[in-house]
Amino acid sequence: MKAVTYNQYGPPGVLKYSEVPKPEPKSDEVRIHIKAATVTAGDCELRRFDIDPGYWLPLRLYMGLLKPRIKILGQEFAGVVNKVGQNVSLFKPGDKVLGGTEMNLGAYAEYLCLPEKRPMATIPNGVSFEQAATIPTGGLNALYFLRKVKIQPGDTILIHGAGGSIGTYAIQLAKLWKAQVIATELPGKTSFLHELGADQVIDTTKEDFTLSDKTYDIILDVTGRAPLTKCLKLLRTGGSFIQANPGIPFIFKKIWYSMVSSKKIYAGLAAYKPEDMDYLTSLMASGDLSPYIDKKFKLSDLSEAHQYVEEGHKNGHIVIQIPE
Ligand SMILES: NC(=O)c1ccc[n+]([C@@H]2O[C@H](COP(=O)([O-])OP(=O)(O)OC[C@H]3O[C@@H](n4cnc5c(N)ncnc54)[C@H](OP(=O)(O)O)[C@@H]3O)[C@@H](O)[C@H]2O)c1
Repeated sequence: MKAVTYNQYGPPGVLKYSEVPKPEPKSDEVRIHIKAATVTAGDCELRRFDIDPGYWLPLRLYMGLLKPRIKILGQEFAGVVNKVGQNVSLFKPGDKVLGGTEMNLGAYAEYLCLPEKRPMATIPNGVSFEQAATIPTGGLNALYFLRKVKIQPGDTILIHGAGGSIGTYAIQLAKLWKAQVIATELPGKTSFLHELGADQVIDTTKEDFTLSDKTYDIILDVTGRAPLTKCLKLLRTGGSFIQANPGIPFIFKKIWYSMVSSKKIYAGLAAYKPEDMDYLTSLMASGDLSPYIDKKFKLSDLSEAHQYVEEGHKNGHIVIQIPE
């Protein structure tokens, strides 16, 4: 089968369109014929191994110390189940599914075998493979964090770094739940963020939102770089700060501020639950949610897609189309 593999950490050019053996499902696994995958910031970080120093060694030991041990990246996919192991009961050949590969990765390929208990859900009518493939990273994380803070109608939420995979879902979900959304981004992304529903867009190269006298109920930092002390001051009494991209220094700050501040601080990894995938696909099927797909690339052009993301061009999601 065709897949994109890499044999060394580094720039997008390390990604090679290759021929690799087609995997066979074990007794508890399903084999998915992948139709669409994506390029996320996380895929690029893993490829060049640009990882927070606190997580560097454990993750490097897992991914391969000197060179990648897991040779195929790609953390989210949509496709069709085409073979199942003898003990599989949740899925059958022909089911259209979406899912996350978690840290075994492997979505940049024509076929992928995964245990049926991995986070996967069926895709309802009215939702395309390309739309469904964007759900695990962006959709599930946005949903997880907004539920954690129990976002309410009328709440004001500032989303820092709103134009990417997590942020574009967070804007839409917050608007669906009738919150007021202020989005921050780098230049050139204002109009599409308004299109998605943001009430106000701040270009962070022109305005430092932390110096404003405005206050918010919730601040969601997707970039991992918002200054915590300043952000806590911008929150109303009882307000919440969410760090979607926490490094080790942030974890220590969180412990300290959780003891001395009345504001709530959240960070961590979203749990990928099939029922949450069902919830998001049902919103898509009813037309209440629609991922912003900026550009589509063929699997054979994956290194160009990584380059595009790395250069900061990505608005919303980049979809990888996998050939028949
Ligand atoms: N907690 C979790 O479970 C979890 C799960 C998945 C991902 N993550 C991590 O969360 C991070 C973000 O994820 P994502 O997939 O949403 O990334 P993304 O698609 O790259 O979105 C981040 C957005 O923030 C923008 N940005 C960067 N610096 C900014 C600044 N100073 N001011 C305003 N906007 C800025 C980026 O613009 P440019 O593209 O122009 O740089 C991009 O549009 C990644 O590092 C990823 O590893 C965490």
